[in-house]
Amino acid sequence: MKTIVPKYKLIGHRGVGGLRPENTYCSFRYAAELGIDWIEFDVQLTKDAHWVVMHDDLIDRTSNGHGKVGDYTLSEIENFEAGLWYTPPYPNQRIPTLVKTLDLASQLGLSLNIEIKSPDQDPDKHARLMSDFVTKTLAQTKVQVLISSFNLPCIINLRKILPELAIAYLVDFFTPETISIAKANNFTSINCDVKTMTENDLKICAQNKIPVMLYTINDKELAKFWLDRGVAAVFTDRADLLL
Ligand code: G3P
Ligand code: MG
Repeated sequence: MKTIVPKYKLIGHRGVGGLRPENTYCSFRYAAELGIDWIEFDVQLTKDAHWVVMHDDLIDRTSNGHGKVGDYTLSEIENFEAGLWYTPPYPNQRIPTLVKTLDLASQLGLSLNIEIKSPDQDPDKHARLMSDFVTKTLAQTKVQVLISSFNLPCIINLRKILPELAIAYLVDFFTPETISIAKANNFTSINCDVKTMTENDLKICAQNKIPVMLYTINDKELAKFWLDRGVAAVFTDRADLLL
């Protein structure tokens, strides 16, 4: 597998998280309808070790169920509605699985930034199961992916298993170590919170030839500001405003 250096500028955050219930099939479809070609979404493991799409540890905020993702099996969690909480409600939206999202992406021509959430308990298991997904399932398709996580042990482990996979290091803010960690692990990019980003941080990344992506920008002028200064891509909930 070759390392993919993403060429994109705009990434739909949780699909089109500002206009559809986040992290749902309808949100992903709407991103494609708007002309977005990369989407970001968050994945977690069920009790029986299947990847499903969910941002929070608890399913309460974005579904009609209660409790942790890891308390349910795949077949149990797929029974919950994932769009009824939204205004207006979107009925018949299931909590997506990663495999079905991959199928949809393949049909729609979408590329995927898959963010691994909640690996704190067992980062090695999360790395191993993501590498299984990449080598056994993703490899059967032409869909491009960028894997990311805030959990450093998890992505360091994933990097060791798959030296050429595109992996982004997610951070809330830059520290003196951020660049050296990214370089030591050959991470594809550093993905940082726009609220903490400085032009000096960006300059240092450029000097070190490390692409930077910024989350989450819903203002066209702010997106232009950072893209003009060399940011590789921005994540947005409102692709409609930035396109
Ligand atoms: O990957 C960028 C962004 O999604 C990280 O923060 O909390 O929205 O998953 P969060
Ligand atoms: Mg995310």
